[in-house]
Amino acid sequence: MRETQPVYHDEEHGVWHLFRYADVLRGLSDYAVFSSDPRSAMEWEPEGPEPILESILRMDPPRHRQLRSLATQAFTPRVVAQLAPRIEAITNDLLDKIPMTGELDVVRDLAYPLPVTVIAELLGIPSEMRADFKRWSDALVSDEGEEARDTLFAEIKSMYAYFTQVLEERRQHPQKDLISDLLVAEVDGQHLSDVELLGFCALLLVAGNETTTNLIANSILSFDRNPEVVERLRNDPALIPGAIEEALRYISPVKAMARFTKAEAVLGDQRIPEKQVVIAWMASANRDENQFPDADRFDIQREPNRHLAFGHGIHFCLGAPLARLEAKIALTAMLKRFPGQWRVPDVPLQPIKSEIVFGVKNLPM
Ligand code: HEM
Repeated sequence: MRETQPVYHDEEHGVWHLFRYADVLRGLSDYAVFSSDPRSAMEWEPEGPEPILESILRMDPPRHRQLRSLATQAFTPRVVAQLAPRIEAITNDLLDKIPMTGELDVVRDLAYPLPVTVIAELLGIPSEMRADFKRWSDALVSDEGEEARDTLFAEIKSMYAYFTQVLEERRQHPQKDLISDLLVAEVDGQHLSDVELLGFCALLLVAGNETTTNLIANSILSFDRNPEVVERLRNDPALIPGAIEEALRYISPVKAMARFTKAEAVLGDQRIPEKQVVIAWMASANRDENQFPDADRFDIQREPNRHLAFGHGIHFCLGAPLARLEAKIALTAMLKRFPGQWRVPDVPLQPIKSEIVFGVKNLPM
């Protein structure tokens, strides 16, 4: 598609698709034309529970800037670096639980429980809630079709009921956690509304969860296709961050993001009218030969590597430093604990059914 129809109009579904790096970059960052808020750009009635739309992910400036600034403090690389000892401890605990003789499932045993425990601790929520977190975040990214819609909406509603209760508790008894910080935070002298607070909690839960799980699992998948990498990383751990960046490019955990045109957009010889849904495919942009020479090669020392896996511009992923740190700690620990070659058995892996994220449900190793 990048070659033949880089800006593709799917007339049947009334959706435009961008595949080239330059167009995806523009779609993600030119917010004056490509809005993140479906309600401001078009006549659009939300389906399903409302607060999900009240997250910064679905806002344009100036409100986006105001609300994002409240959360940036919690996620700067300096603040996140202080979490390293705790993330290492959680990682080691999880790895200690794996029986030496049994089969390792990277997703079940490490890639899933690690980020969900970290984000639960940041939010100040007991990690016994992990199973519920899993169902809720699955529901938020799932694409199981019409039949499953009622179940998904019911899950999302139960998530909001839970967070409403936590917000109430923290109002009464503030703690040292992100939810308590957000409750007292002010924008222009005003506190966040309940719907905005719920939107934040839901966004942090999903964004900090499923995506990082997939980054860890997708890194292992990338190494499996390029077996020499594991030994190189073991001999020279300084190469690990570059390998993670390349895994983000090579198998991007978030495949695409939606935008909504507020005005006509001209991309090459295509004109996208206003009030259109546009899907910017980062997974495709990240393999664009015009940006990445030899794009299908997994090169852990690729320089430069300006992949779009975390987005670009004002919505650039707030959790990128945290995701990078968790992946680095997880992979470093695995390289130490599991010597020799790593092999993913030759069995069909089940992809997660979602248009947004890319990952596998289980990853035996
Ligand atoms: C935004 C990807 C991990 C929090 C984004 C966006 C992408 C992304 C592509 C931009 C969306 C857009 O432009 O519309 C990823 C990937 C991750 C990851 C691939 C892991 C590998 C995390 C973590 C957190 C997080 C760990 C927090 C704990 C956020 C937030 C936003 C965001 C709050 C919204 C930023 C805004 O709209 O201003 N992420 N993310 N993400 N991410 Fe992440």
